[in-house]
Amino acid sequence: MGKSNSKKKIAVFISGRGSNLKNLIKYSKLKKSKFTICLVLSNKSNAKGLKYARINKIKNFSFEKKLSLFEKKAIKLIKKFKINIVCLAGFMRILSPLFLTRVKIPVINIHPSLLPRLKGLNTHSRAIKANHKYSGCTVHFVENKLDSGEIIVQKKIKILKKDNPETLAKKILKLEHKAYVEALEKLFNF
Ligand code: GRF
Repeated sequence: MGKSNSKKKIAVFISGRGSNLKNLIKYSKLKKSKFTICLVLSNKSNAKGLKYARINKIKNFSFEKKLSLFEKKAIKLIKKFKINIVCLAGFMRILSPLFLTRVKIPVINIHPSLLPRLKGLNTHSRAIKANHKYSGCTVHFVENKLDSGEIIVQKKIKILKKDNPETLAKKILKLEHKAYVEALEKLFNF
């Protein structure tokens, strides 16, 4: 993505809790960070994660409109704030092919499984049910096909006999926080 002295500008899209957003903000404040979070967008006005944007005085907007309108507003703001990359973090809508063409900057996502295994929802219960030995998380580029773009960082964890979907989710969320930062640093170090 090209080295430069100025920090890369990130927009984060969320729909809920926002623990990944919280962690990205925390990291972005470190001197060594190559990025800064300039914009947070949500498709839910009651998304808990919006509070992290507010506390940290990051511009934030929520549009509970239909997807095409959300995307239109998003494109405008991305241009206005000269954003370099969009990070999806628990964003529960599937962005349209039109948006992905028009946005003109990379869009990346974090998914709680070892892609290409377990695309879609409820990955932890599905991993346990299928008796998988390992699970984890993946940061990947977003393409038109769901959970299918090129992988940037993947982190793996052993599924223990005593794990249930909740314990596994907790452990993987910790990994997610590390993986997202690593992925961005990797992209910005090119
Ligand atoms: C994470 O597990 C992420 O992988 C998935 O949605 C969850 C979002 O969590 N896409 P949070 O909102 O960042 O806490």
